[in-house]
Amino acid sequence: MMSSDRQPLVAANWKMNGSLDTIRPLMGKLIEGIRADVKAEIVICPPFVYLAEVASLLGRSGMVLGAQNLARHDSGAYTGEISAAMLLDYQCRYVIVGHSERRTLYGETDVLVAEKFAQANKAGLTPILCVGEYLEEREAGDTDNVIARQLDAVISKCSIESFDQAVIAYEPVWAIGTGRTATPEQAQEVHAFIRLRLARHDERIADNVRILYGGSVKATNAEELFTMADIDGGLIGGASLDANDFLAICRAA
Ligand code: 13P
Repeated sequence: MMSSDRQPLVAANWKMNGSLDTIRPLMGKLIEGIRADVKAEIVICPPFVYLAEVASLLGRSGMVLGAQNLARHDSGAYTGEISAAMLLDYQCRYVIVGHSERRTLYGETDVLVAEKFAQANKAGLTPILCVGEYLEEREAGDTDNVIARQLDAVISKCSIESFDQAVIAYEPVWAIGTGRTATPEQAQEVHAFIRLRLARHDERIADNVRILYGGSVKATNAEELFTMADIDGGLIGGASLDANDFLAICRAA
């Protein structure tokens, strides 16, 4: 079932971090450091207000832009929301959907996440769909059920074909920002489960979809994670704010 031609992808999720003063030198170092030996596709997801700045800094570096969230509506009276079309206006190609911080802190349900995924898909943005379990759920042996529920909500609303233009990120909640990384074997097990779940509907799509791991990925553990058969790259939080760390992770992919 393994396909060797999935291009690795490494995405930087800056979350609510950075300022114009820190973004400019960070981008400068990344652009200088991304050399021809980096085979992975690199996506930078800054906070909304810095999209324009990062878009102009990216230039012809080969890295591409993503956003951290989007609205489930096209336009209208939704104060504070940002639409898919607005993201396209700023050259975004990717958008993170259903990050665990959105699910946990902002009450995003599986249904809302599926609506946002659909919205991204309809606009031609590639959603990076985040799934992942809490520590209690893992300890109760519920990991597969949680991941299945999160995936099935999107498959049933958007159809399996929508995963032809999507990326999945497995982010165990207990590993995010905690310094506690899933072992390569733990991550691989869930990645393989995700691929199997999609394969129930369409084997080709399951084989082609890129599945990223996220949760305390660092320069020191990236390589062992990325060598696993079903791990196609990473979604990087903390370590993406340091140019040297992030570049090392990109090279490991
Ligand atoms: P950390 O890499 O800081 O654990 O964050 C992971 C994450 O949530 C990326 O979306």
